Amino acid sequence: MLFDVFTLFPEVFPAYLETSILKRAKENDLLEVRLHDIRDWATDKHRTTDDTPYGGGGGMVMKPEPIFKAVEEVIGIPPSCPLILLTPQGQTLTQQKAEELSELPHLAVICGRYEGFDERIRQHLVSEEISIGDYVLSGGELPALILIEAVTRLIPGALGDPEGAFDDSFSCGLLEYPQYTRPPAFRGWEVPEILQSGDHGAIDRWRRNQALLRTLQKRPDLLFKADLSDADLDYLEQAVQESETAASDPIINLIKKRKE
Ligand code: ADE
Repeated sequence: MLFDVFTLFPEVFPAYLETSILKRAKENDLLEVRLHDIRDWATDKHRTTDDTPYGGGGGMVMKPEPIFKAVEEVIGIPPSCPLILLTPQGQTLTQQKAEELSELPHLAVICGRYEGFDERIRQHLVSEEISIGDYVLSGGELPALILIEAVTRLIPGALGDPEGAFDDSFSCGLLEYPQYTRPPAFRGWEVPEILQSGDHGAIDRWRRNQALLRTLQKRPDLLFKADLSDADLDYLEQAVQESETAASDPIINLIKKRKE
């Protein structure tokens, strides 16, 4: 997977890209990240990339010319791959979106700074806008790293383990089940006996039920989109009856509907 990153701060990327999974993915030719300093395409001697907004108001706006020129030179116009604008106005990044993007051979992202972009960049250059959540950062560099990491770890072979990202939270629409490692007892807190039983069928069922329970308790909204078997629905029904959470009613309706 090739990423072309357009940014005013290319220097913030290498430390993270040279660490752990991303470093290994690069070494194994699964990932290449090309960093492009938008300032290199500025046209004046001060290398200006922003200007005051028409109509007045505070803050500065990213000028269109350097960004169009940079994109044109690196991936062409129209762009030869999807071109993503990182902005709080975009669709929120989800695991499903990361999975879709991980199937592509080439992606480009533009990181914003200042108060925003000249609207013509939105309207006439990028193919989509992505946000990493409903909060505002000073720039798109951290969102770009988050996108690169979320996508790269889904590329087959990027995680050492062949099961890869399969068990992760969200990968099957549920939060991940609780994990334990040695010692079996720590400060009086014991690892659940079933995990030490060696009964893999029972362990799988326990893990699935724990994932369902966690999702019910922490993110019940996710259950509405999750793939749920009859056994899952039975377990959830029982768990809802035993708990008195605010989400109970909609969840009971969901279980009823799915069982029909
Ligand atoms: N740039 C600033 N804030 C952002 C956010 N939440 N997501 C993506 N890009 C951003």
